[in-house]
Amino acid sequence: MKKFVLAGLICSIALLSTAQINIIPKPVSAKINQQGKGFTINAQTRIFLENDSLKSAATFFNNYLEKYLQIKLTITNVKPTENFISLGINAGTSSFKDAYTFNSLQKNISIVGTSPSAVFYGIQSLIQLLPTQKSTTLNIPEVNITDHPRFDYRGMHLDVSRHFFDVAFIKQYIDYMALHKMNYFHWHLTDDHGWRIEIKKYPKLTEVGAWRNGSIVGLWPGKGNENIKYQVLPNDVKITPANAVIKTDGIRHGGFYTQDEVREVIKYAADRYITVIPEIEMPAHSMAALAAYPEFGTDPKSGYKVAETWGMMNKYNNVFQPTDKTFGFLEDVLTEVMALFPSQYIHIGGDEASKIWWKQSAETQKIMKEKGIKDEVALQSYFIHRIEKFVNNKGKTIIGWDEILDGGLAPNAIVMSWRGEKGGIAAAKVKQRVIMSPEEKLYLNHKQFMKDDSLAANKFLPLETVYNYEPVPAELNSEQAKYIWGAQGNLWSEYIANPAKVEYMLFPRMDALSEIQWSQKGQKNYSDFLNRLKTQFKRYDLMGITYSKRYLTANP
Ligand code: ACM
Repeated sequence: MKKFVLAGLICSIALLSTAQINIIPKPVSAKINQQGKGFTINAQTRIFLENDSLKSAATFFNNYLEKYLQIKLTITNVKPTENFISLGINAGTSSFKDAYTFNSLQKNISIVGTSPSAVFYGIQSLIQLLPTQKSTTLNIPEVNITDHPRFDYRGMHLDVSRHFFDVAFIKQYIDYMALHKMNYFHWHLTDDHGWRIEIKKYPKLTEVGAWRNGSIVGLWPGKGNENIKYQVLPNDVKITPANAVIKTDGIRHGGFYTQDEVREVIKYAADRYITVIPEIEMPAHSMAALAAYPEFGTDPKSGYKVAETWGMMNKYNNVFQPTDKTFGFLEDVLTEVMALFPSQYIHIGGDEASKIWWKQSAETQKIMKEKGIKDEVALQSYFIHRIEKFVNNKGKTIIGWDEILDGGLAPNAIVMSWRGEKGGIAAAKVKQRVIMSPEEKLYLNHKQFMKDDSLAANKFLPLETVYNYEPVPAELNSEQAKYIWGAQGNLWSEYIANPAKVEYMLFPRMDALSEIQWSQKGQKNYSDFLNRLKTQFKRYDLMGITYSKRYLTANP
């Protein structure tokens, strides 16, 4: 019997001595006191708020405990003597934005931040120190952490046009971002395949534009139409709905968010210190809008419909005609959008606009002549500049994909660099802010494994490539480097039709992304990251997340 107790003791000492801090993204500094007994959370533990502004951080923690570990704590404004977690603000503790310190001792845990959001980030670290199994007592090791983010902009995007995701899942997605200390949710609300936001002045945008009659089956161009080589059509062949043979699954797909639902999502995100940036695409990726209001396209008589096949199909997808009427429409839409979203930033797309439509349109050519616009590249620039002026006049700032550099960058725009880093480098050199999101590094819809992965965009983006991405290009000097505002992962949903698939594509690459965004450059260490990921996977098991388990067994 004695022997048995001794063996148990040795075993727990061994467990304690191997305790390590497995927080993702890795904090600036984290020290563990291996000798300490640790703090134990039980049903009597209280959360003491030194400041009322920390209520949402405390509530987030309580919700996590209740949902995954079945413990609910009392929140109080009166300082207990022991068994409490205190949350406080002290702006003077660090010169870094959103810095926090975390201290766990046997009698209490203290999180002090320079701002409410900093305390919220401290709460995320606390969550990651919790056991990953349910128990009536939860032991937290004795740890001392000081931490702050590397980049101000830590974004994640979700395309809800190619496939629609309901509000409940959008909230879940926002929670996943919060857990990774991200702070900007880029909501891709409009595209060729569906318009997803209620606009009161233009009800057909959602009555018509939110629904498509089918989606191609399999990888683009899709089962049943493999013989159509859209990509090799000569430039002068115009594909219209009349001559494009598209075979789809014939299943109606769609949905949209009412303005009340949008407000609900914005509030939910704000409680997690996440800003929601809406994207309204123009001048291209506009087929859903044109199906609803054909008069704003260059070829209204051709019979637009909400697109059913992915990709730009070269010349099939029409663009907005740059008439005053179209600008009036876009300004009305943006006015409603800007009234809804408190975000300082509005994403106006700007990518992949085929110029052939403007070339072919007598009306567009007439407008160009009248305005002295020399070619279609200059027209793209005119389009974006004009919209930027409108948005700026309402006190807001535009973000656009890097095509907004074509023909001359709008003066106050922020560039989201997706076709590699070239656009981002050019913008930083002229002192305009940049979000790095190069497709070959940060498009999480690309395949994680070359063989036997589920249907996904046919490009390869393994975890290690994401992890090793450095958002500040070496060719920028230190002054220019300041314009790299941050980095963002994008999730396009052509081949992602349900929440489980979203999770599979996100995890664990979102963990790697968070480390690029938050952790200091000098701290990057892939094998250390993989080690910490093992605990994160256990947490995902607890949370019921459908992460990609192949990382546990397979080599990509
Ligand atoms: C993009 O991937 N077209 C921005």
